[in-house]
Amino acid sequence: MSLHFKKGTMPNTDHTYLYKFNFDATELELCSLEVKCLFDASLVEKHLFSEIEVDPSQSAFIKSRLKTTFSSTSFDSLLNEIKNQNIHAELFKVEYLVFKGDETPNQERLQKLRDIGYSIEGLHEYYQPTITYGLCYCDGLWYFGALLKDSLDWHKHQQKPHSFSNSIGVNMAKSLVNIAAQNNKGASLLDACCGMGTIMLEACFSGNTIEGCEINHKTYVRAKANLAHFQYTSTIHHKDVKELNKKYDAAIIDLPYNLFTLATNEEVAHIIQSTSRLADRLVIVSISDISIIINQVGFQVMASCMVRKKGKTKFARRIWVCERRK
Ligand SMILES: C[S@@+](CC[C@H](N)C(=O)[O-])C[C@H]1O[C@@H](n2cnc3c(N)ncnc32)[C@H](O)[C@@H]1O
Repeated sequence: MSLHFKKGTMPNTDHTYLYKFNFDATELELCSLEVKCLFDASLVEKHLFSEIEVDPSQSAFIKSRLKTTFSSTSFDSLLNEIKNQNIHAELFKVEYLVFKGDETPNQERLQKLRDIGYSIEGLHEYYQPTITYGLCYCDGLWYFGALLKDSLDWHKHQQKPHSFSNSIGVNMAKSLVNIAAQNNKGASLLDACCGMGTIMLEACFSGNTIEGCEINHKTYVRAKANLAHFQYTSTIHHKDVKELNKKYDAAIIDLPYNLFTLATNEEVAHIIQSTSRLADRLVIVSISDISIIINQVGFQVMASCMVRKKGKTKFARRIWVCERRK
């Protein structure tokens, strides 16, 4: 396969990627916070143009990433540009991505896909393409380029052998990793109260470096079994987080709730205080206002958001992004 692209000539194309998102109303705040931490940008509708490269499978909300190699105000000039490039690709596929504001009728979309398909040299392969291209109309321009979609492989974690009835969901677990690591795969992370390892599984899947800590022996054994089930090898410390002394770039704390794990206010303060020694950035999940404790341990809240549980209007978790005060 040989590909040689050059950037389109039309204006407003100073970005490399167009990301497509999806989320429901309960996840809007969480997705916005994740976007801020991954891209240092604000989400507009359900898409984002960015120079920053993020694998869609790293987030529950990113559905695809289109490389905006070709762009034009008219489809015909985009097609000409593609033809001029003499693209060769064996076993390729072209998909149409629909963004808000694209009124192109379905038959016309299919025709445009065919036009592009005939302009690429090589065999078209629908089921097992070696490369997928995307075509879309977004914010007044047509775009064409290589398309990477969410692999969905991480959904297998939903079948982990052990789980708490009130474990956080996979979507939130993925977000917490992204909010903590800020798209830095080299960052060392700690899951300070790792429970069954829901967050650790997502960090391992995305190639982040993470360790866990769990005080309860039975839970610790189950978390280890969950990681081993998916052949992940991250370390879990079986101890009170106060006994850990290693330093990490960021720590995630999914605080024990008063439902299953019976945490008192003193225990919550103890966990935050103990973890604050280990990292300058904390991402904390709570069900109550912990801003006073965060302040007391010398940290400031940089951002926070609320995540309601689907179908349960009264139950909400709050995520606090905190950094050590200078
Ligand atoms: C809300 S659960 C974490 C759930 C986890 N995120 C999951 O989805 O499986 C909080 C966990 O913190 C653990 N824990 C409580 N106090 C701790 C401490 N001082 N050090 C380490 N772990 C602690 C509890 O045993 C419990 O498993």
